[in-house]
Amino acid sequence: MYYPDEVVEEIRMKSDIVEVLSGYVKLQKKGSNYFGLCPFHNEKSPSFSVSGVKQMYYCFGCGAGGNVFTFIMEYENYSFQEAVKFLAKRAGVGLPDMEYSEEARKKEGRRAKLLEVNKEAAKYFYYQLRGPAGQAGCQYLKKRQLTEETIHRFGLGFSNQASDDLTRYLRKKGYGDKLIQEAGLASFDEKHGMYDKFWNRVMFPIQDGNHRVIGFGGRVMGDAKPKYLNSPETMVFDKGRNLYGLNFARAARTNYMILCEGYMDVIAMHQAGFSQAVASLGTAFTPGQAALIRRYAQEVVLAYDSDGAGVNAALRAIGILKEAGLTGKVLSLEPYKDPDEFIKNQGQEAFKERIRQAENSFFFELRILAGDYDLSDPESKTKFHREIARKLCSFTEEVERENYIEAAAQKYHIGFENLRKLVYAYAARTGGVQPAVRPKPGIASQKDPGEKKKKPQKLLLTWLVEEPALYGKIKKYISTEDFTEDLYKKIAEKLFRDLEEGALNPAGIISLFTEEAQQREAAGVFNTRLMQLGSRQEQEKAFHDIVVAVKRNSLEYASSRLGGDVSALNQVIEGKKALEELSKTHISLD
Ligand code: CTP
Ligand code: MN
Repeated sequence: MYYPDEVVEEIRMKSDIVEVLSGYVKLQKKGSNYFGLCPFHNEKSPSFSVSGVKQMYYCFGCGAGGNVFTFIMEYENYSFQEAVKFLAKRAGVGLPDMEYSEEARKKEGRRAKLLEVNKEAAKYFYYQLRGPAGQAGCQYLKKRQLTEETIHRFGLGFSNQASDDLTRYLRKKGYGDKLIQEAGLASFDEKHGMYDKFWNRVMFPIQDGNHRVIGFGGRVMGDAKPKYLNSPETMVFDKGRNLYGLNFARAARTNYMILCEGYMDVIAMHQAGFSQAVASLGTAFTPGQAALIRRYAQEVVLAYDSDGAGVNAALRAIGILKEAGLTGKVLSLEPYKDPDEFIKNQGQEAFKERIRQAENSFFFELRILAGDYDLSDPESKTKFHREIARKLCSFTEEVERENYIEAAAQKYHIGFENLRKLVYAYAARTGGVQPAVRPKPGIASQKDPGEKKKKPQKLLLTWLVEEPALYGKIKKYISTEDFTEDLYKKIAEKLFRDLEEGALNPAGIISLFTEEAQQREAAGVFNTRLMQLGSRQEQEKAFHDIVVAVKRNSLEYASSRLGGDVSALNQVIEGKKALEELSKTHISLD
């Protein structure tokens, strides 16, 4: 690990979870815990809980959970080290300055390296734009009516006509060819050696939500193809989980975001004062991007191009927004092609008016749909009405559905009762109005074959955390060796040590893991609600069964390794004895 454990623990202790998370989620005290709406999945009633005592959070809806580091990692898209740095700064804890020493540089993760080399490239492009080679770029940006301030704010740059100057610059800064290639900034072939990916283009650095350069888009200045060239996906450039302009939009503090198609649209919008505008990154809008928006806003105003491709893209985006629990509206740019053009011709006030007039996404869908039918023909018209009914079934909440039925009936001159009947007839035929199925990222698949072995190990740990006194009663039978799952074994090792010392520290245990997925799983151990079993007797039986199951699994595991391993034999002999004894022993919970 990069930072010493004691430092990590100190930062954690100085970053009270309730205080830190309150900056991101509106929390309300209920009993000894706090509750709020989970920022990691779509929900209407709060199932996201934060415990000040345990210094952990857990969502009963989606299974997200962990300590204060996990939260920052997940929310800010940070690695563990980055989360540590972030919270250290917040808590005013000095970190050992390892970044600039040669040794630490070597140790630093690949991820950090990629970010570094991207930043360096962005700087290079930025200065090129301002140098003698950048004249054409400057002229182009001026022609597109970008101000000096805007160019600076978005860090726009220029890649000149030389075919390997960036590579040479980066080498001089100490970066290796492999890294430069991995960042997608250059390629290698036998004939040409290393050659830059971008040349003779205006450069748009793409930043993540925290202003870190993760990739580039480069535009030709004339009509050559392709118009835009984008960095390939890398370890730091996940096109489905980032949005252009989000670094500014997240601070815009409006309850909606404006979603556009292109980089230039976003820049033009920001320049006109709409800093809540974002765009996807040369690919279609994704559920990951919707989830990202949902952390900062409840509504999305779509400002896609007004051509056929734009309409189709809008229809697809609407479906994704709905899945994510975001309200969608569609803005009309007519008679202009895109937001950039609209702003240039009509200005800020007119655009504001268009936002006010933006169409509810459901009626936008219906309007486009209507274009496929000949409404003067009764046959075709009936089909259209059936199609409306089908779409109305997607509203799972009754009040909402009824309201939409009413509005649609009015809009398309259908009798309200008739349309309503059509909706319910359709629902009856297809098994009712169905709630959208949403992925629950935190919950392991129930069909996982290893689940049967894992569960008792996890539950045993949970029991010990909830009732530490039990440790003294089982330590005779169970050792950390009995945990055959690596993750649980690691938890057990620390937990048993803590229990020996009588100092339980669940949140500290989570920092043992630097991967988000592992932290999440570890958090599950401390947040699983033990079944509220009826009588004390039943509880005792349940606990006994768990201990036996763990021991039996460990015995089976050891037996399977017999032959190759002497220690396995000892474990089997010892295990058999313990299991026999266990089955005769009563473990009291009192
Ligand atoms: N795009 C791309 N590759 C292309 C064309 C487009 O990656 N060959 C992506 C870019 O992210 C671009 C977006 O699709 O920003 C929208 O494309 P388009 O409407 O053609 O670009 P604009 O942003 O309108 O750019 P401009 O105004 O400079 O023509
Ligand atoms: Mn466009």
